[in-house]
Amino acid sequence: MTGPGAPAGAGRPLSPWHAASWRSRPAVQQPEWPDEEALKRVEATLAALPPLVVAGEARRLTASLAEVAHGRAFLLQAGDCAESFAEFSANAIRDKLKVILQMAVALTYAAGVPVVKVGRIAGQFAKPRSSPTERVGDTELDAFRGHMVNDDAFDPEARRPDPTRLVAAYHQSAATLNLLRAFTKGGFADLSLVHAWNQEFVASSAEGRRYERIANEIDRALRFMAACGIDLEAEASLHQVDFWTSHEALILNYEEALTRQDSLTGDWVDCSAHMIWVGERTRQIDGAHVEFLSGVCNPVGCKVGPRATPDDVLALCERLNPRRVPGRLTLITRFGAGRLTEALPPLLRAVRDAGHPVVWACDPMHGNTFVSDRGRKTRRFDDIMTELREFFAVHRAEGTWPGGVHVELTGDDVTECLGGAEEILEDHLDQRYTTACDPRLNARQSLDLAFGVAELLQGQ
Ligand code: PEP
Ligand code: CO
Repeated sequence: MTGPGAPAGAGRPLSPWHAASWRSRPAVQQPEWPDEEALKRVEATLAALPPLVVAGEARRLTASLAEVAHGRAFLLQAGDCAESFAEFSANAIRDKLKVILQMAVALTYAAGVPVVKVGRIAGQFAKPRSSPTERVGDTELDAFRGHMVNDDAFDPEARRPDPTRLVAAYHQSAATLNLLRAFTKGGFADLSLVHAWNQEFVASSAEGRRYERIANEIDRALRFMAACGIDLEAEASLHQVDFWTSHEALILNYEEALTRQDSLTGDWVDCSAHMIWVGERTRQIDGAHVEFLSGVCNPVGCKVGPRATPDDVLALCERLNPRRVPGRLTLITRFGAGRLTEALPPLLRAVRDAGHPVVWACDPMHGNTFVSDRGRKTRRFDDIMTELREFFAVHRAEGTWPGGVHVELTGDDVTECLGGAEEILEDHLDQRYTTACDPRLNARQSLDLAFGVAELLQGQ
C-alpha cells in the first residue's frame, strides 16, 4: 500500500499513537449507541472489509496539496453537506462530478493554475450538531446526526442511533468511489467532453453560456495542438483527472475500524477517504478527534472559526503537522462575511512566522447560514462571495496564498441558497429544497462562484 508522492511518515506522531488512542480522550459529538455489543460487532465487520483508498493515494494527494501550500496550485473541495442514503443514484453522482469538473475548468482556464479536486463525497455521512436534540412543538427527539448514525425523519424510532448504518455507509462509499473512479479514469472526464459536463439547466443560463465559450476555446486549443502534430492520445492528463475523496472524520469508531498499517512504510492510513478533516466543534487540542487525525498519514484538514486565537491555530499546526510536511495540513477558515479583515490576519501571520507550511482554504458557507422568515436554513450567494473576496484581499495584503475553496453544492437544480445570477428568492426556497442538512449551491450558483473565484485569482 505505497506509491510515489509525499515522503512516508507525514502523519507519524511524536508521541505513542495507535488507531484506538482517541478512546482515552474526550470525544464530543458522538452518538449514544444504545447497544455496545452491536457496535462492537459492526467494528469487527468494518475492520475485516477491504480499504476504500490506499496509502500511496493519500501520499499522492499530500504531494498535490504541497503544490497548493507553495502557491502553485488551487484546492477545490466541494460536495454535499451530508450525503444521503435516500438520495443515492448514479445520476446524482455524475451530476455532482460534472459541476465540480466545470468549476475546475473555469478556474484552470481563467486563472491558469492547476486545480486539486477533492469531493466531500463517498463518506460524508455524519454531522456535528449545535444541539443534541431537536424540538418540534412539544416533542423533543435526538437530533439527526447523518445517515451513518440515524435517520432524518422526525420520529423516535428513526432517530435511534443504529450502528449497522456504519456498514451501510461503507458500502455506499465504496459504490460511490467506484463510479467516481470509473468516470474520472474511464473517459467521462476527457477534456474533449468538456461540453457534455454542461447540464441543460445550466447551459441555458448566463454562467452556462460563459462556460460554453471557454469550452469552445478549449476545443480550438486541442485542435490547434493536434494540427501541430502533438499526439493528444498519448497525453494522459487530457483524458483523465485525479479526483479525491474527503469527509469530516466525526464518528471515530468508523474511522478507527478502517485504519490500516501500510505494510511497506509502517505508516497508519485511514482508508475511509483520501483526506479527512475535523470540524469547528471537534477540533479541541486534547480531544479525541485531533488525537486520531494526528496519527494517520492522510492529508488532514481542520476547520477554523472566528473565535480561534493564533495560539489555538499554532497548537493545532504543531499537533497535526509536527514535521511540517507541506500538504499535510489544510486550515479551512469559516468566519462569516464581514469578519475576516480583522480576525484572519493575526492567524496568517502567526502560522507564517512559525514556518508552518499549511494550505489555507476558505469555507464561505458555514459562517453565513441563517434561518429565513419561513423557517428554512439558507445562505445568501452574496454573503458567500463577500467572504471569498475578503479571504483573497486579506491573503494579498499578508503575502500569503489563498489556496482554495471549500463549498457545499449539488449538481441538481435545487433552491436552497438565495441569490445568484438567476436569482433565488425566499419565496422559491420551498420549491426544490432537498438537502439532508445544510443548504447547498445549485449547479448554476456553483459555476457562478467558480467564475468569481477565477477573477479573484487573476487579481492575485
Ligand atoms: C461542515 O463542513 O459540514 C460543518 C459542519 O462545518 P463546521 O465544522 O465548519 O461547522
Ligand atoms: Co454543512
